[in-house]
Amino acid sequence: MPSSPSPRSSPDLAVALGRLRLPNPIMVASGTFGYGREMAGFVELSRLGGIVPKTITPLPRKGNAPWRTVETSAGLLNSIGLDNDGVEAFLERQLPFLVACGAPLVVSVAGATLDDFVALARRLDGVAGIAALELNVSCPNVSHGVDMGTDADLCRRVVAGVRSATELPVLAKLTPNVTDIAAIARAAQEGGADAVTLINTCQGMAVDWRRRRPMLGNVVGGLSGPAIKPIALRCVHQVRRAVDIPIVGVGGIMTVDDCMEFFVTGASAVQVGTASFAEPVVSGRLLDALPAALAELGAGSLRDIVGTLATAPAAACAAAEERNAHAS
Ligand SMILES: Cc1cc2nc3c(=O)[nH]c(=O)nc-3n(C[C@H](O)[C@H](O)[C@H](O)COP(=O)(O)O)c2cc1C
Repeated sequence: MPSSPSPRSSPDLAVALGRLRLPNPIMVASGTFGYGREMAGFVELSRLGGIVPKTITPLPRKGNAPWRTVETSAGLLNSIGLDNDGVEAFLERQLPFLVACGAPLVVSVAGATLDDFVALARRLDGVAGIAALELNVSCPNVSHGVDMGTDADLCRRVVAGVRSATELPVLAKLTPNVTDIAAIARAAQEGGADAVTLINTCQGMAVDWRRRRPMLGNVVGGLSGPAIKPIALRCVHQVRRAVDIPIVGVGGIMTVDDCMEFFVTGASAVQVGTASFAEPVVSGRLLDALPAALAELGAGSLRDIVGTLATAPAAACAAAEERNAHAS
């Protein structure tokens, strides 16, 4: 197991996502960490900032036809299709282990309709051990799965409906597959979201030209991994300027440098997704590396650096001048 840094040398890593409090900003992303059991041999689960298990739906879903995953250059394409056993099986078979892990548990939910989301929120409200809900209004792999994340008004109504059905903090996980993600984030804020999670996968496709067939059974899927980090950073940047609620950054995070890029751009916490497939110990490694990265910026707490990116042209000029001065 990775060792914890000594408390005296540790900066303050605590995070507030609205009413949701996390001990540190390193979370694991839905669909890439199973229901925790699979990862217990690799990561000290109680150290994680938060665990977001695979999205659950009101009823069991079989998911999409194979193939469901294809590796691409710098990424992974998936079309799992929200394969899960439904909320009741989750509560009975998965929740006890997840709660026992000791990390804040953020349950990811999805439905085909607004009423589905509200019913799930009502069912999970007051269940011991659940710290928050993450609304997956952004899955590209189910029919109509992204409608609520692509229509601002619907997104606002889903978040508001969930908010009125539960006391739990609510995170809205948004899709990058829209023209204006800032508008959707504003709608989530208006609906009462405590935070937004950015981003779910980017729609993509892989082709076997010799067979003249798409590689995925569902033809199109969602791209994740390092290939999408620049898109995720762009989304965090745009949303940061549009809303007041905190942002959870996700997309292509593999290294502590990636985490720091998200923090200075405006994310208060991050989720590690595809990287866990390539390197199952990655989340613990990032957590271990974070204090030294913060120390490099002279920061005593994570909060000191969130959203400190200098984007004004004057700042860019000054940085260029400094670089030139060092070069000459
Ligand atoms: C195989 C796979 C399954 C996923 N399943 C879900 C899911 O059930 N719910 C969800 O909100 N996101 C799901 N995602 C999206 C991830 O949580 C994350 O938003 C996305 O992969 C971008 O992060 P990454 O590049 O670090 O993987 C899935 C991603 C992958 C690769």
